[in-house]
Amino acid sequence: MKNKIQELALAFEHQSQEIKTLTDLEKVRLHFFGKESPLNIILKQLKTLTPEERQKIGQEANQLRNHMTEVLNKKREELNDQEWKEKLAKDKIDFSFPGFALPLGKLHPLNLVMNEIKTIFRELGFLIVEGTEIETDEFNFQKLNLPLGHPARDMQDTFYLDSETVMRTHATNMTARYLTNVADNSHDNEVPTLAVLSAGNVFRRDDDDATHSHQFMQVDGFAIGPKISFANLKWVLQSLCQRLFDQEVKIRLRPSFFPFTEPSVEVDISCFKCRNENHGCEICKQSGWIEILGAGMINEQVMSLNGLNPKTTTGLAFGVGIERIAMLKFGVNNIRAFYENNLKFLEQFRFYGM
Ligand code: DAH
Repeated sequence: MKNKIQELALAFEHQSQEIKTLTDLEKVRLHFFGKESPLNIILKQLKTLTPEERQKIGQEANQLRNHMTEVLNKKREELNDQEWKEKLAKDKIDFSFPGFALPLGKLHPLNLVMNEIKTIFRELGFLIVEGTEIETDEFNFQKLNLPLGHPARDMQDTFYLDSETVMRTHATNMTARYLTNVADNSHDNEVPTLAVLSAGNVFRRDDDDATHSHQFMQVDGFAIGPKISFANLKWVLQSLCQRLFDQEVKIRLRPSFFPFTEPSVEVDISCFKCRNENHGCEICKQSGWIEILGAGMINEQVMSLNGLNPKTTTGLAFGVGIERIAMLKFGVNNIRAFYENNLKFLEQFRFYGM
């Protein structure tokens, strides 16, 4: 019996040294620990021995079993370790391998121009608001001195949602909203001061062509106070144009008409492209001047219609079409290019403003 244990120990020694993989290990474990294993057979036969022999052989068998368990556990750990290392070596990341270029999103050119203008006015101290695109006839027209049936309403062909509600035809609706609000909240003899820029989409029943669209974007601003003068208006417009186009541009004001301003002006800038050399260029249509926006002093009638006293409160106002500015700045001659979502066109503005 003792010999058998020694033989078994030798056989285990030999076989365990041959273990190269976890599968080998499992085979050896089954062989030496399974139900029919030589060790089990020895243990079963113990009962045929004398008590002293049984104790001795039993002890040796147990020692061998503990030894084998220890050896196999150690082997298993080593093999697991090795397997990990091999896996890591195979999965190695090559940091010098070139990556994939992901397409980079960028703002739409109209939003680029819009943001540029908003930044200029924010720095001039204006409050920037978006306002509502669905507006009542009252705030879109009546409170801006365009009563029902007024011929100047024809200048802005309108989408009516019902007899009293329109898609706003201009961002000037927010002037009426703010003037009314200020009047409602100011106290006796107090002259309110406020500068607001309303920016967003406007809608007109125009036929779309190279320079018109039934939906477009505007910024519309006003400033009111006790001493707002025409000189302030000129300064605001000059600051806007120089920052938007180029430090050298001059502005020229021509008399015009808008129901909400009196006097009203049409604002031209000197051509930033040709600087009126060699009899002008295509952009300024050989005139050296480019028409870019409408402006004026808020009509006294508008102050009264919104509950303010025109004798103590004066104001300046202006309205700018974003598409027109973008077309001029980027040399785009068809407004539709902005709405077609042609990536070849849009990608050209990738680096603008960076
Ligand atoms: N609301 C005018 C339009 O859409 C533009 C405009 C002109 C706005 C003069 C103004 C202004 O605030 O003073 O055609």
